[in-house]
Amino acid sequence: MAHFICVSCGKEYPLDTREYRCSCGGLFRLAYVPPAFNRSLIDGSRFDLYRYRAFLPLEGNSWRDVTLGEGATATIPFDEHLFVKLDYAMPTLSFKDRGASLLVWHCRNIGVDKVLQDSSGNAGNSVAAYCARAGISCEIYVPKGTSPKKIKMIESHGATVTVFDGTRDETADACRAKAADEGIYYANHVYNPLFYQGTKTFVYEVFEQLGRIPDNLFIPVGNGTLFLGCRLALMELFHSGCIDRLPKLFLVQSERCAPLFGSVGENARKIVPEPTYAEGIAIGRPMRAAEILTGSYPGGQEVILAPEDGILPARNLLSRRGFFVEHTTAATYAAYISYTMSHVLEGDSLISLCGAGLKSEK
Ligand SMILES: Cc1ncc(COP(=O)(O)O)c(C=O)c1O
Ligand SMILES: [Zn+2]
Repeated sequence: MAHFICVSCGKEYPLDTREYRCSCGGLFRLAYVPPAFNRSLIDGSRFDLYRYRAFLPLEGNSWRDVTLGEGATATIPFDEHLFVKLDYAMPTLSFKDRGASLLVWHCRNIGVDKVLQDSSGNAGNSVAAYCARAGISCEIYVPKGTSPKKIKMIESHGATVTVFDGTRDETADACRAKAADEGIYYANHVYNPLFYQGTKTFVYEVFEQLGRIPDNLFIPVGNGTLFLGCRLALMELFHSGCIDRLPKLFLVQSERCAPLFGSVGENARKIVPEPTYAEGIAIGRPMRAAEILTGSYPGGQEVILAPEDGILPARNLLSRRGFFVEHTTAATYAAYISYTMSHVLEGDSLISLCGAGLKSEK
């Protein structure tokens, strides 16, 4: 039976705990080993991420009442060297639906009737939508300056939005304080390991769609929820013998907020974030920095920067080819362009287009 384990002291917690982290302050990881990945276990009758449910820590069938049909996004060639995966084609227009679906299923499964969450916009929007579907009441904290469109979308799902007058990190602190004071379940995408079980399906899909994994994956990293899910799934595919070579992982951060760039050991750099178009990855203090930086990944990983002045041109290049994405997603492409101008990349690459353009204001 899956359960949580504190990464700092090893204490174990049952899945239905109402704590979001260990009493020692340590973060939870999920003790769960799926069966070896094998196409014969995929449910070919479903065209959403639950086709992979044999590899997810689900109990019962209540996920059927929570899913909005997320996942199964297209993975298509952009040019002869690059694939794009259209994760903006999701129910709430970002990749966060992969994780929110599992996270909110979990809340419902353990009998939670109200959740609190903080977000730069997309995760909150996604959690609000899945809570609406699951009949769970929801309050989302967003930092001042969050795009009004994202706020409207969150409210449209019946969630309460609290706009906090502070940075993204201060907003998270305030939200956690409220959760603790009022005993409300903190359904947070960064803390809760169930979220990463959802984001790992990104890699399952690429593998199923292409029959292999491209040599280099470019992934935007703020808190690293897509990145950690992808790394987890890649290790699963590797250990199950589906792939014999792990791709290199490129972690894209904004040059205006890059705590993981140039860091030494397991500690993120202390930085003062500056305003950036890439609001989705503007995380000054990523909670799982140690896990991101030190997790053993034989395929190799490197943090690279998205140049701020490359974001709008990259967004235009993508939309001129039919892909209308938000600025944070354009930043991933900008980082790819900038990297390939100064380095030779071996093999082919894939970037995730994980947020839709309709959400950005600027
Ligand atoms: C469009 C988009 N891309 C990337 C990210 C980064 O995700 P994470 O903070 O989990 O690394 C976000 C987060 O909000 C996002 O909205
Ligand atoms: Zn602990």
